[in-house]
Amino acid sequence: MEKERNLLLFCLILCCSSLLPRVSSSGGGLGKASPLKRLFVFGDSYADTGNTEKSSGAWHPPYGSTFPGEPSGRFSDGLVLTDYIASFLGIKSPQPYTWRNDVNKTLLQHGMNFAYGGTGVFDTMAREPNMTAQIDCFQSLVEQNVYTEHDLSSSIALVSLAGNDYAAFAMKNGNREELPAFITSVIDQLVHNLKRIRGLGVRKIAVTALQPLGCLPQLTAVSSFKNCSSSWNSITRLHNHQLHRSLQELKKNESIMGSSSSLSSLVVLDLHSAFVSALHMLQHQSGKSSEKPLKPCCVGAKEGYSCGNVGDKGVKNYVLCDHPETSFFWDNIHPSQNGWRVVSSFLHSSLSHLL
Ligand SMILES: *[C@@H]1O[C@H](CO)[C@@H](O)[C@H](O)[C@H]1NC(C)=O
Ligand SMILES: *[C@@H]1O[C@H](CO)[C@@H](O)[C@H](O)[C@H]1NC(C)=O
Ligand SMILES: *[C@@H]1O[C@H](CO)[C@@H](O)[C@H](O)[C@H]1NC(C)=O
Ligand SMILES: *[C@@H]1O[C@H](CO)[C@@H](O)[C@H](O)[C@H]1NC(C)=O
Repeated sequence: MEKERNLLLFCLILCCSSLLPRVSSSGGGLGKASPLKRLFVFGDSYADTGNTEKSSGAWHPPYGSTFPGEPSGRFSDGLVLTDYIASFLGIKSPQPYTWRNDVNKTLLQHGMNFAYGGTGVFDTMAREPNMTAQIDCFQSLVEQNVYTEHDLSSSIALVSLAGNDYAAFAMKNGNREELPAFITSVIDQLVHNLKRIRGLGVRKIAVTALQPLGCLPQLTAVSSFKNCSSSWNSITRLHNHQLHRSLQELKKNESIMGSSSSLSSLVVLDLHSAFVSALHMLQHQSGKSSEKPLKPCCVGAKEGYSCGNVGDKGVKNYVLCDHPETSFFWDNIHPSQNGWRVVSSFLHSSLSHLL
């Protein structure tokens, strides 16, 4: 345990201290209209495109089987939220932060992805950097002038918070009476993080509202993927309500302070509505009303096993659906590429406020 902690500390220091050359083109912005060129990403597995450690399931088959055809560190059979948002913005999906010294440096012009699967605003079960530590890494790059002020002011930040803090809360504590105060502390920390990202020069931020947690396969498995958990969905409701309220307050505070330019620069990507709409759409498209829309494509063969689990002699302890391209969920927690494709189509109108 102590050893692990030292390792993590070591990694964090290492992560934040390696020098990178400036990636900005020196004549940036001259003459040409300057569309958004960069995406900086913070958060968890809904946004991670390869930072997660190699022992993670996302680096094992059948993850990545649709795209790129092998595991890529994405928690899906293919593309995830970050990829679809980058595509909508007309840029390449930003490189994972952990690859920054190994890739062609010109790729860093598209921004960087600091998200790690399993993390939250607070420490969770995952040992990877929480959102504060992710922003610390970003800050140290900014302080090294890897990106210019102009680069940053024309960038967008994507912040994903999909509920690992609540999973950790349930596992560690589970005391329902303390839940409302915990939700408030999550939102306060999240809003603090958003202010920090803006303070570092990124003026445009898209932050996710929680998806319906109670409808994740992890929680619907007990009803054979039929019924959502109303208690987990009420966490989503409370979280999203408080998020909207805090962001309204933030905007009000800022308009009092006269910084009206920032008023439209913070948008919520409403994953709750998008998941509900996408599930509804896919269910009706499939034309087979008997199909269970909440059932994931990749499931453990027995209780205790999960997608990607392989036993002795390479025996697969999981079962795959025949058509991942029509599924919504890939595994117990994450949408499939198809799921993300449809979900992101419902986010375009919010995102367009940032353009
Ligand atoms: C890096 O990528 C750019 C653009 O794709 C290319 O022009 C350049 O030659 C590459 N540099 C190296 C060292 O591979
Ligand atoms: C985030 O992680 C760092 C390093 O492990 C820790 O010191 C800090 O307390 C954590 N921050 C929050 C808000 O949990
Ligand atoms: C699922 O919901 C239906 C309709 O609300 C209800 O009749 C049924 O008992 C529920 N099943 C389980 C396993 O909770
Ligand atoms: C808005 O301003 C009030 C008064 O200064 C402060 O207490 C509050 O935390 C601010 N809210 C946000 C979301 O920044």
